[in-house]
Amino acid sequence: MKINQCFLDLKDSYLFATVGRKTAEYKKAHPDKDVIRLSIGDVTRPLAPAVITAMKKAVEDMASVTTFKGYGPDQTCYGYDALLDSILGSYSRKGVTLEKGEVFISDGAKSDCGNILDILSKDNIVLLPDPVYPAYADANVMAGRKIIYANANEANGFLPMPDKKVKADIIYICSPNNPTGAAYTREQLKAWVDYAKSLGALILYDAAYEYFVTDSSLARSIYEVEGAKECAIEICSYSKTAGFTGVRCGYTIVPYALMREGVSLNKLWARRQSTKFNGVSYVTQMGAAAVFSEEGERQITENIAYYRENAKIIGDTLDELGIWYTGGKNSPYIWLKCPNGMDSWAFFDYLLEEANVVGTPGSGFGRNGEGFFRLTAFGTKENTQEACRRISKLLKK
Ligand code: MLT
Repeated sequence: MKINQCFLDLKDSYLFATVGRKTAEYKKAHPDKDVIRLSIGDVTRPLAPAVITAMKKAVEDMASVTTFKGYGPDQTCYGYDALLDSILGSYSRKGVTLEKGEVFISDGAKSDCGNILDILSKDNIVLLPDPVYPAYADANVMAGRKIIYANANEANGFLPMPDKKVKADIIYICSPNNPTGAAYTREQLKAWVDYAKSLGALILYDAAYEYFVTDSSLARSIYEVEGAKECAIEICSYSKTAGFTGVRCGYTIVPYALMREGVSLNKLWARRQSTKFNGVSYVTQMGAAAVFSEEGERQITENIAYYRENAKIIGDTLDELGIWYTGGKNSPYIWLKCPNGMDSWAFFDYLLEEANVVGTPGSGFGRNGEGFFRLTAFGTKENTQEACRRISKLLKK
């Protein structure tokens, strides 16, 4: 037996595991300190009441022989109509028409951002932005693919644009972006779509944070851009939209129009999923189907407004301190420049030790993240206010 040697090329631990370990060590050494975590983007608002009602009803269905459900429907890769219809409805409100067979229910965006690689050759060159959500990079390192980077930096507002001299086969785009919170306009995405089509490349578009978009010039789906169905797979999640980080549900769109080497990627993905996946539980799917009901959507919008207010509290604090940042306006992430030229891990330690606030060091997301730092708006309002009060006090000194 031989191991997959590519795993040896990975960093020792996943970024958020390192942050978690350092935080736990600090808490162990200082049990009296009240440490506030604004690091991993985990939600704090409970599920919307409409979701809870739908899940309870689904549990009841499982208790009766006439309504009990086993495996989900196999013609739709285990997606139930109620959920598929609600997803199609949410896309049609963005002006995007999809067919049920183009929607694949998943247990969240992170899994599919890696799993989708199963249907793509190992020889493909992968283009990632730097900084980048580490799961994209790690999943490709595990498969031994060659990775190249597009520089995201202060000069381009952390929104790199395609460079025609660079040849890539698989292009990851996350907008609004994790970690930088920067978001592409439809015109900017059109440039990426045109670039991908000119190369015959595939865009893997992570739309996990689309629900935070408020500016009308920004895209909430790549399919708002003409031609995207011929070159892009969109991966989305209920985690941040509806607080499903602990419930697990998302969806991946593989358009019928997406063909490479005369083969339908939709067919390949359906084949992969029916072999390696048995679907998302009925109870979870029914809960997710309630997210885009009239009542559900009103309730999740209230939760998003709560996080937006947190982002504003953080942004206002940084404005007052004169610290440069992106994000926070159409995104739950605030990406700030470390003060006084500190490097990312030095600032992490400084904030942890002096203010007992935990964030995520930008350098953990890539070389261009050095000197930057990410805070999330997913905490409670009280913790966000208190963290900002401490940061302000510390940095005003
Ligand atoms: C993050 O903090 O970047 C996210 O929570 C990670 C994720 O969604 O997996």
